Parts: sequence; structure tokens; C-alpha cells
Amino acid sequence: MASFATFLSLLTIALLSFSCSSQFILPIQKDPLTNLFSTSLSIGTPQHNFNLAIDLGGPILWYDCNKSYNSSTYTPLSCDSKLCTNDAGCTSCDGPLKPGCTNNTCGANIINTLADFIFSGDTGNDVLFISNSKVSGLLSGCTNLDAFSDDEPLKGLPKTSKGILGLARTQLSLPKQLSLSSNKLPNKFAICLPSSSKGSLFFGGIPQKSSFSKFQLTTIPLIINPFSTAPIFTEGDASYEYFIDVKSIKVNGEVLNFKSSLLSIDNKGNGGTKFSTLNNFTVLHSSIFKPLVRDFVKKASDKKIKKVASVAPFEACFDLSTIGRTNTGLDVPTIDLVLEGGVEWTIFGGNSMVLVNKNVACFGFVDGGKEPRTAVVIGGHQLEDNLLEFDLVSSKLGFSSSLLLHNARCSNSEVNGNLISIE
Ligand SMILES: *[C@@H]1O[C@H](CO)[C@@H](O)[C@H](O)[C@H]1NC(C)=O
Ligand SMILES: *[C@@H]1O[C@H](CO)[C@@H](O)[C@H](O)[C@H]1NC(C)=O
Ligand SMILES: *[C@@H]1O[C@H](CO)[C@@H](O)[C@H](O)[C@H]1NC(C)=O
Ligand SMILES: *[C@@H]1O[C@H](CO)[C@@H](O)[C@H](O)[C@H]1NC(C)=O
Repeated sequence: MASFATFLSLLTIALLSFSCSSQFILPIQKDPLTNLFSTSLSIGTPQHNFNLAIDLGGPILWYDCNKSYNSSTYTPLSCDSKLCTNDAGCTSCDGPLKPGCTNNTCGANIINTLADFIFSGDTGNDVLFISNSKVSGLLSGCTNLDAFSDDEPLKGLPKTSKGILGLARTQLSLPKQLSLSSNKLPNKFAICLPSSSKGSLFFGGIPQKSSFSKFQLTTIPLIINPFSTAPIFTEGDASYEYFIDVKSIKVNGEVLNFKSSLLSIDNKGNGGTKFSTLNNFTVLHSSIFKPLVRDFVKKASDKKIKKVASVAPFEACFDLSTIGRTNTGLDVPTIDLVLEGGVEWTIFGGNSMVLVNKNVACFGFVDGGKEPRTAVVIGGHQLEDNLLEFDLVSSKLGFSSSLLLHNARCSNSEVNGNLISIE
């Protein structure tokens, strides 16, 4: 009997720890129109489902609390709270009281880097439902979109999105708040952006029992740019975005020739390499973009790949029927990002090429002009089917390179409530 009871309690512990380790997972979908990524989660009482665009460079989670939205579990953050440290002021509202209309409330900057302005909103907490787990006490921003013309704060986002889930290195990002709350997850998250079907966002890092834990990740430091790159900030703030130290770039194994100082962060915070999932494609300083396209086109032509007229926003496009196939996508010259210690992140056809119609594939990088703040902004398409783990405890990034190399994709993991399919 005793051993049966022990067995039962061990089983319970095992089941509990399994469901705990798989609790905080969100599904990711790709929007075919904008080529951006979003997730969905429920907020408030009664639960209301929100589709939110995913922004690796966004400081908070914010959502729409328009006239018809209400929630009985919403608590605004008072301006006097020591958690109210931002520079968004204090908001007030004459009622009727509801999320988005409360008095003496700590303001929130509602940021969407695709919009032309910064908007104001409120900071407050409400219950969140992440997969099937209820989490309370987490702060987010909300704003009444009815107050702005043409849903301007949602500009450029997928049509279904009513806000943004920001994952940057801030006090209010969900990974950080989950690490401080009673859930005590490590301050880490992993993201796998799908090329089709569903990908996943794992709070606390890659779950040990998931089909993803078998992939060997290469680890590199995450760099802090000491100068803010945000649209609004306080003098002296460091950037909350994720930078990595790319030392050089290769095309089919040959080092690309350009002014390499662009890859360093200068004494004003310009230059360097960061991630942004609100960029559908990687954007490069012109002085990198031009030689990259030139070398890519030349090496493609060596492979008898036929160039055709360009299709905006891309410059180099090719006749699809002249390109071979490999397990990592179209057989085109590879692009390597050479990182600290000589580590290389290889970008294969699956991540470098974009099918713009049934006959044409384009080189999926975009010209960022002569004076972008950051020289290389790695966008969503280049991250698809790559498993990335952002470890904010050790300030390191683990990356898998293309999962296609292992005949896997981000959509291999089925997130269905608490269930992760294990291969
Ligand atoms: C108000 O917001 C709710 C929740 O996002 C949404 O379902 C509804 O369509 C919105 N109403 C308007 C008029 O935008
Ligand atoms: C919103 O819900 C709260 C709590 O249920 C209620 O007190 C308040 O009157 C509601 N506000 C509006 C505008 O309906
Ligand atoms: C909010 O504060 C203003 C100014 O103090 C006050 O006039 C108003 O009645 C308050 N509204 C509510 C709903 O408490
Ligand atoms: C990239 O995103 C922008 C802004 O969301 C959108 O206007 C554009 O159509 C997208 N480009 C492609 C090729 O999907």
C-alpha cells in the first residue's frame, strides 16, 4: 500500500511538474499579408481573446481597451506606486470607470514602431491566460483605440492584431515579470517563428520535455547598446533591444567587403546588429546592402540562376525555374553572419529567399538607406524555422540555425492547451 501511495504521489508530482514546465507557451502564427507574427491570449473577466503582434524589440504588452471593452478584474497602477517608473505621466478620466478610463493612473507609452506616433495609455494589471494557465498580477498597457483615428496605433500590424506583445529587456516585459512573480520562471524565453502553420513562444526557456530540447544551440553574448534606440526614452537610458556582435558577413564563404565599422556600435549608439520582429525582412545600411546584393547576384549567376526584373521592396529577383532545391530551401548562395569567436550563423535559401509569385523568388533583404540608426536589423523572415533562446540571466542568445538542417520546422511543436507533442 505504502509503495502504491508513493507511486501515486510520485506520479502526481511528475504530472504536476510536466504541466508546470509546459504551462507558459503561446502559439505563434504568421500573417500572410504583412509577413509579421502574432499570438493570441485571453485577458480579463470575462475572458476576452486578443491577437497581439509579437515584437522582440517592444517594451511592454499592450492591448485595446475601447469603449465596449470592460473587465471586472482590472486594477489600474496608481501614479504613486513605486512600480510607476516610466516617463508616460499620470492619466485621469471622468468615467464611466473601466480599463482605459481610470483616475490617477500610471501612464503607458503605447509604442508601435510601424506607426508614426507614440500614443498614450494606462498601466494596469489584469488576469492573463497563457495556454491554459491563469496568471494574475502582471502589468500591461491598455489604450482606447476609439480615441485615435483609423486605429493609428495598429498601423502596419496584422489585421487581426489589437495590440503588441513586447519581449524586450525591460522591467515590464512578460518574461521578466513571470520571473519575479510567484511563478518564478527563469528570466528566459525561446521563440520559434513558423514559415507556415504554427510556431511557439516558450516563457522560461525551452521546455526540457519538448521536441525542441534535443537541438544543440550555439550560444553567443547578447550585447547591450548603451544608448537607447527607442522612439521615447529618458536621457542616459540604455537600449532595451537585443543586439548581437556580428563581426563580418560572408556570401558563399567569401567575406563581403564594406566599411566594417558599421557593425560596431559607435559613441552615439549608431550601428551594430539587432533583432526586430516588427520588421518582416532584414534591413541593411545601404553600404552593406549594395555590396551584399552585388555579390549574391554574381554568385547566383555562377550557379546559372537567371535574374529577372526586381519586385519591390526587393532588389534582386530570380526566375524560380532556374533555382535548384535543397533540404534547407532554394539552392542559392549562403549568407554567413560571422560572430564572436568565429561562430557562424548561416542563412540558407529557406531564410534568404522570398517567393513573390509562382515564377519569381527574390533575395529577401531590404535597403535601409544611408543613415539608419542600426546597420543591420534582422527581421522575421530570416528567423523563421530557427529556434532562438534569449537568456536574460546570463545575457546570452542560443540559436539553432535552420531547423531544416535537421528536417524539422518550428511548426513541429503542436501547442494544444498544455500538450506538447513529443516526437
Ligand atoms: C472593441 O474591442 C473589443 C475587444 O478587442 C473588440 O472585440 C471590438 O470589436 C472593439 N470594438 C470596436 C468598435 O472596435
Ligand atoms: C466595468 O466593470 C466594472 C466592474 O464590473 C463596473 O463597476 C463598471 O461600472 C463597468 N464600467 C462600464 C463603463 O461599464
Ligand atoms: C477623477 O478625478 C477628477 C479630478 O480629480 C474628478 O473630477 C473626477 O470626478 C474623478 N473621476 C472619477 C470617476 O472618480
Ligand atoms: C512588410 O511589412 C510592411 C509593413 O507591415 C507591409 O506594408 C509590407 O507589405 C510587408 N511586405 C511584404 C513583402 O510582406
